[in-house]
Amino acid sequence: MSKKFYITTPIYYVNARPHIGHAYTTIACDAVARRQRMLGSDTFFLTGTDEHGQKIERATQGSGKTPQQFADEVSKQFQALWDRMGLTYDDFIRTTSERHKRGVQALWRKIRDNGFIYKGSYSGQYCVFDELYVDAVGPGAPCPECGRPTETVREENYFFKLSAFQDKLLELYTSQPEFIRPETRRNEVISFVRSGLRDLSISRSTFKWGIPVPDDPGHVIYVWMDALSNYITALGYGSEDANKFEKYWPADLQMIGKEIVRFHCVYWPAFLMAAGLPLPKAIVAHGWLLFEENKMSKSRGNIVRVETILEAMGSDALRYFLLREIVFGQDGSFSFDALVQRYNADLANGLGNLASRTLTMISRYFHGEVPYPSGTAARKPADDEIAQAARKTITEYAALVDQYQFSRALESAWSLVAAVNKYIVENEPWTLGEQKDEMSRSRLGTILYTSAEALRIVTALVHAAIPDSTARIWQQLGLGDIRYFALSELKWGQLRLGTRLGSIEPVFPRADKSTIARMQKMEDQQRTGFAAPEEKQPSAVATQAQPSAPAVQTAAPPTPKAAADGKISIDDFAKIELRVGQVKVAERVKGADKLLRLEVDIGSEVRQVVAGIADAYAPEALVGRKVVIVANLAPRKLRGLESNGMIVAASLEGDKPVLCGFLEDVPVGARLK
Ligand code: MSP
Repeated sequence: MSKKFYITTPIYYVNARPHIGHAYTTIACDAVARRQRMLGSDTFFLTGTDEHGQKIERATQGSGKTPQQFADEVSKQFQALWDRMGLTYDDFIRTTSERHKRGVQALWRKIRDNGFIYKGSYSGQYCVFDELYVDAVGPGAPCPECGRPTETVREENYFFKLSAFQDKLLELYTSQPEFIRPETRRNEVISFVRSGLRDLSISRSTFKWGIPVPDDPGHVIYVWMDALSNYITALGYGSEDANKFEKYWPADLQMIGKEIVRFHCVYWPAFLMAAGLPLPKAIVAHGWLLFEENKMSKSRGNIVRVETILEAMGSDALRYFLLREIVFGQDGSFSFDALVQRYNADLANGLGNLASRTLTMISRYFHGEVPYPSGTAARKPADDEIAQAARKTITEYAALVDQYQFSRALESAWSLVAAVNKYIVENEPWTLGEQKDEMSRSRLGTILYTSAEALRIVTALVHAAIPDSTARIWQQLGLGDIRYFALSELKWGQLRLGTRLGSIEPVFPRADKSTIARMQKMEDQQRTGFAAPEEKQPSAVATQAQPSAPAVQTAAPPTPKAAADGKISIDDFAKIELRVGQVKVAERVKGADKLLRLEVDIGSEVRQVVAGIADAYAPEALVGRKVVIVANLAPRKLRGLESNGMIVAASLEGDKPVLCGFLEDVPVGARLK
């Protein structure tokens, strides 16, 4: 019976389209899954999308789509992209699917029946961006994870007795040191748990986009409890057919980004313990992919699309770059220059060159059949050194990949590539090819056999990392379909004499400056496609109807003391508190054509604002919309209504005001500075 191997990625939020940050985790898992399959393990590789919660509900507001329509579209984009990249997931779970909902509710019931859920009320802060309860801080306090302002939540909730698991969790981390990797993350988790665990609110009752709590549908299950359960619901947990669950759970490897360690290493094992279920064997956290020094993310607007790289350079170029360039566990930077440089150095010049010169010479000098290596006179120490180096690489590569040290593993394989390329140059087979004597021929055969055998070994080792190009090299070596090769049996000397090569063609065409320019252009076009049209008038001002003139008017924000040249200092600017708000209620003001009365949630409170924008915006079009509000303006009365703040809009000469908004999702309450 073959060993089973269950591997999972996090499930991706559908508020953002996939980018190379998401691809990074999925590629790393795909590389592990492919390797396990080649080693003969019965492998199950799961990925999917996380579609519920307040973050997603808010992202869809104003889009004209229901959360379900929105989720359907983005989830499809993830699947289509993973397919285009040839990622070999065995299942794609969506948290809005019936099978998932059923499983989550079954888990809830199990935990409840085991006595770990009780009803209470939560009053505190919540970060919608991270879907994280932030305890023991005041209104408006920043989220400790992302720094965005938290929102105040006061509602009746169900609680999970997380505090009951503090000791058990600490014991888990001690008795299973491999449970969390790398060590830095493990230490962080241990100190977080040691500092004391409070019970966790696991339901929300003030919005609807989630899975109903069993027997109390006024509540939806906390999105992290919903999302984490995907790892077992995809296997059929809670359904009649739990065969896969019996077979594959617990997971052998759950790979995540470092920002979601707490959810996976504290909450997740505690939920499983409460349900009496086995725990995953290992949770491995990688670092962030940075672009222009920041974490690549939709909210920062610095994402790079996978499609651009696929189109210009192919999937293996991206896979190789991400796995080779970034030290797994640490943050690493992406740039088009670095991608092309790495590709040219290691793939085009390194492996590509080794494959093309070796195969071309076998074709030219031996009619395309793998030659016989001499065991006697024509053998030199350099040949044995290559064989030795290859044997060492096989062991080293396996050990490094097993510790998820992808970059070091690839580095080790490429030392072999470099050694063989050097060996070829030093032994000049092309010169021997011109000689007709027996000795030269025998020497030539030995050199080419040695090179081809080393090429075969590298190709087999790195196939899981760069599957497309290695499958082609394998074909060119005349070895058929690489997927059927048993990696556990890989050893020096398996290349059979007389093997007929397949047809030879270049695998890694060189990239150059024009490739970089092309990719940059594609990304720029994409960004500008989403960018705001150029403003006719570059003045962005705040619109609040003035008491004396209720018609649409624009007024500059209160002008702090100007310097002699009319400029203000940064401190002056900092006095103006600009915040992101969300319109909850909008209605016309009786007897005033141009005025709207708005209730705007600014995170810490809901403000009434009277704005002169009725000409430009219908009230129903504003509900749910995010706006910018001058939050520290002295209140004033308009038509008997108190207005507490101004809404910022561009004021176009003789035209209607245009409300200021965001292209990326921003949390309510966020400060503009
Ligand atoms: N939905 C949650 C996870 C729930 S799992 C039960 C979530 N989704 S996410 O889409 O925001 O991020 C998911 C994962 O994508 C991250 O953990 C990380 O693995 C990957 N990445 C997203 N952006 C990334 C980078 N810029 N760099 C590296 N990985 C990134 O969190």
